Formats: sequence, C-alpha cells, structure tokens
Amino acid sequence: MAAVKVSGPKKVVAVDDAAVAVMVAKGRWALAVQSFLALSVVALCALLYAPRFFSAPEPHGAIVGFFAPRSTSGASSVEQLGLEHVGLGGGDADREGGGAPRQVLDNQVGSPCSSLTSHSICCDRSDYHSDVCFMAGDVRTDAASLSLLLFPPAAPAGGAAAVAVEERIRPYTRKWDGYITKTIHEVRLRAARPEEAAAHRCDVRHDAPVIVMTAGGYSHNLFHVFNDGFLPLWLTVQHLRRRVVLAVLAYSPRWAGTYGEIISGLSGYHVVDLLRDRRTHCFPGAIVGTRYHDYLAVNSTRLRDSKTIVDFHRFLADAYDEQPKDSSGSQPAATPPGRPRLGIVSRRGRRVIENQSAVARLAASVGFDVDIMETATGAPLSAVYASVSSYDALVGVHGADLTTLLFLRPGRAALAQIAPLGIALLSRNLFGVPASRMGLRYEQYDVSAAESSLSRRYPPGHVVVADPARARREQGGKEWELVEHVYLRGQNVSLDLDRFRETLARMHSRLKEEPQGQVPKSADALPKI
Ligand SMILES: *[C@@H]1O[C@H](CO)[C@@H](O)[C@H](O)[C@H]1NC(C)=O
Ligand SMILES: *[C@@H]1O[C@H](CO)[C@@H](O)[C@H](O)[C@H]1NC(C)=O
Ligand SMILES: *[C@@H]1O[C@H](CO)[C@@H](O)[C@H](O)[C@H]1NC(C)=O
Repeated sequence: MAAVKVSGPKKVVAVDDAAVAVMVAKGRWALAVQSFLALSVVALCALLYAPRFFSAPEPHGAIVGFFAPRSTSGASSVEQLGLEHVGLGGGDADREGGGAPRQVLDNQVGSPCSSLTSHSICCDRSDYHSDVCFMAGDVRTDAASLSLLLFPPAAPAGGAAAVAVEERIRPYTRKWDGYITKTIHEVRLRAARPEEAAAHRCDVRHDAPVIVMTAGGYSHNLFHVFNDGFLPLWLTVQHLRRRVVLAVLAYSPRWAGTYGEIISGLSGYHVVDLLRDRRTHCFPGAIVGTRYHDYLAVNSTRLRDSKTIVDFHRFLADAYDEQPKDSSGSQPAATPPGRPRLGIVSRRGRRVIENQSAVARLAASVGFDVDIMETATGAPLSAVYASVSSYDALVGVHGADLTTLLFLRPGRAALAQIAPLGIALLSRNLFGVPASRMGLRYEQYDVSAAESSLSRRYPPGHVVVADPARARREQGGKEWELVEHVYLRGQNVSLDLDRFRETLARMHSRLKEEPQGQVPKSADALPKI
C-alpha cells in the first residue's frame, strides 16, 4: 500500500468555514450563507466624491464617444488607449465608421441597455439576482453623496436638455436577499447640469471606465466570494481586458491582499477605495453592479463573446501564474505513473469525516496518491490554488471549501462530494451542477442514516434521521432552521468504507481511462446536464 500523507506537503485552506446553505426567500429556494462570524452591519456611509471640471468631451458622431484623458492613477501595465469610443452595447455597432473598435460596456446579449447611446444612464433591473447600471460619457465621482455624476458634452446638440434622472443601486448579486442587501452601500447615479462642472473638477483622470462593486456582502465565505463576488465581476468586465478601474465599496487591505492575484487579473489599474477616497475621479464610462448567471455559472449564451466557465478557470490559472504542467522536465514531486492524485478536504468543527484517516488509507488502497487538504489554516489562496490544481480528484463533504472545484482542471479532474443527511439536493445544486458544467467528473456520495452522527443524537426511527425530506416539509416555514441547525451545523459523517470504496474505485478507473490533458475548448464540448 502506498504511503498516505496524513498531513500533505501543501496545506491548503479555505478562507472560511462558514456553512453554505439554502434558505427560503420570497417563496423561492435561494442561496444564503450562515456565517457564524457575525456580519457587522456596515455603517451607512456618506461617501464623498467631489467632482470637478473635466476637459470637454469630444463628440464622435451619432454614438458619442469621448476623449480619453491619460490616467494618473498608475496603470503601468495597461497600454495607453488614446482616443477611443465608449458605448453601452449594441451588438453589431462595435465598429463605427471605420474608426477604432468601440469599447462596449455591456457584454450581455439582449440587454435593455444595449441600444442606449452615450451620455446616458441605463439600468438593467430585469434580472432576479442583480441590477446593473451603465453610464457612458463624462463620469465623475462625488464622494459626499456617494454618487457618479454624468456631465453632458460641452456643446449640447440643440435642444436635448439633460434628463433629470437619478438611479440608485446597491451593487450586489442577491437583491432578493433583504438581509444582506441592506448592508450594501447604495450608490447614486445622476445626470449633472453643465454649471455643476466647476464644483466637480477632476483630481484623477482615468482612461478606462470604472466598475463599482462591493467587497462586502457574504465575504467571509469562499463560496460567496466567488459566487457573488469574483465570478460575477469577471462576467461583467472580462471583455474589457483589464482596461477597467475597480472602485470598491467596503474595501479593506485584507480583501485586496487575499485576492490580489484575481484583482490584478481583472484590472490593470489601482483599486479605488470608494468610501475613503475623497478625490474626484473621472472616467469615460461606468458600470455599477455585476451580472449574475447561476451558482458558480457562466451562461455562454448570455455573453456577447460566448465565454464559458472553462474560460473563468483559465482566468484563475493565469492569475495564479500557473506554469504549463505538461511541459517537459522538472515537475516537482511527480506522481508515479498511474497513481492519480486525490485531495481530501479536511474540515474542522462540523461536517467532518470522523473516520478520515481510514478513508485516506482506503483511497490509497484503491490506487490514489492521497493528500489531506487542511482547511482554515490561513494559507494564501495561491497555495490553495497550487494544491488543488495539482489534484486529479477532490473529495470533500459539502461546504464552502468545495468552491475550489474551480481550480481543478476542466475536462480532466474529478470531484466527489459527500452529501450529509438532509442536504443532498442542495449539495448537488451548489457544487455538483457547476462541476459538471466545468467538464469535471462528478460523483455524489449521499450518506445513509447509519453514517450520520445524527443517528446517535436522535432515537432510532426518528423522522429527522429516517426521512429528512419529510422532516423538512413538516417544519413548514421553519424548514431553514432545521437545515441550518441540524443538518448543516449539527452533523458529522463516518463513511461506510465498503460503500465509499465503490465511489473511489469508479473515479479511479475513469481517471485511468481518460487520456491525459484534454481540456474542452468550449461549452459545446462539455457534457450537457
Ligand atoms: C442561459 O441563458 C439563456 C438566455 O437567457 C436561457 O434561455 C437559458 O435557459 C440559460 N441556460 C441555463 C443553463 O441556465
Ligand atoms: C464533529 O466532530 C468535531 C471534531 O471531532 C467535533 O468537535 C464536533 O463536536 C462533532 N459534531 C457532532 C455533531 O458530532
Ligand atoms: C469508518 O472507519 C472506521 C475505521 O477507522 C470503521 O471502524 C467504521 O466502521 C467506519 N464507519 C462506518 C460507518 O462504516
């Protein structure tokens, strides 16, 4: 039997151990997190932005563009764009009159904001999960009112009086979730009058549009950090190819440090700390809020450039500067040929695998090279990436750590999720479906009553253990409390080694039969689910 590393060389960590769960919201099942770290309610901020004068934008034909001022915010790695057009969308209108390609802010197919012209504000509030607003033209921040002001062109064309429009938006992807949404700062967008310009002169001029987003929300939980943070952000701005400034609400140095690689993968500019930076920042356009498709999902039919979740994985791989693993020579700790690498997520506190070391020995006997992936160790995310991306298979009990499935190699690696009693469907929806969409081999191991610690807590035959679905139904409006306190927080598992061996053996033989290194080129190559 091959050696089992009970403590692997690379200890990896999840940012948080908070449980991921579902709750009823507005009559629909929707996702929420029960973070045992209390979410401090963010004090309502009056953020100040004091715009000043901005050099008069130059019109560029019917769809008005802008004169891009040089960035003074330190965008060293971004090439000077020079004169460029910014528009809100508009499909085939990407190239205007033989000029440079027009920069399209809204990358969503069929968005109500696609047909709008420059010098206007458009909010798309049609989605269940998130609102997104767009501004094209002379945009200036006003910290005092936490606003973005849109100034009209220098010489307004004829009688087109500025529309007195003000939009308000809390940029987060869970607008149905009143509990968290009220903690998100509200940003105002409005059209400014020309005479206001003198009071709003630019302190910092940027040559790229801004996206306003939040580092708040359920940011203690890795699932939400990706599901509601970085994946939506990527969906919304990846087409701008780092030519976008991140203006962040609830910014913290810790956030910027923890996710530095991802942040600089998305933007070639310094982050603007929107609540503390009192200067007037000027931009040629703005996006406020992010798109949202589904749990850890990229719906390629909604993106003008048809990107997929595999592209998001590649983005992460690039961000963490992954060296090509298939190139010759010096790959450290090369696994013996024929022994796929398996990572076992080792949770703490709850939903732990009580007989984890026996499970690790079992996996080794099946033919895996086993690594125990410790969670909550404080290791940087780059180390987590390095570990998980080296695995051929990842095994773990349902929990936020499984978000690292995004780091597994698409079209090649496997994920086995152990679903504790009472949350089988939740587990499948949160991680199983995304794993399959990414082209991972997905196995779900639903634990039986005998494998659950709940069978020790409840008398034999009790409905909570014998029939979780019925137990949940019988709770009616308090179903969530049962799920949260009993099934999510009150349960460990002890895996039946004979039964779990079948799951491991199936994964192992699939990995052996698959040719190495095949990555699907697009969603079309992925299994439909
Ligand atoms: C993707 O988006 C399209 C257009 O909104 C929608 O019709 C389709 O159902 C979505 N696909 C999935 C898998 O959600
Ligand atoms: C689960 O296991 C952990 C670690 O052994 C322990 O601290 C916790 O009390 C256990 N929970 C239950 C419900 O048995
Ligand atoms: C878990 O593994 C241990 C061996 O460490 C074994 O005694 C126990 O029966 C296993 N649990 C179940 C439910 O089979």
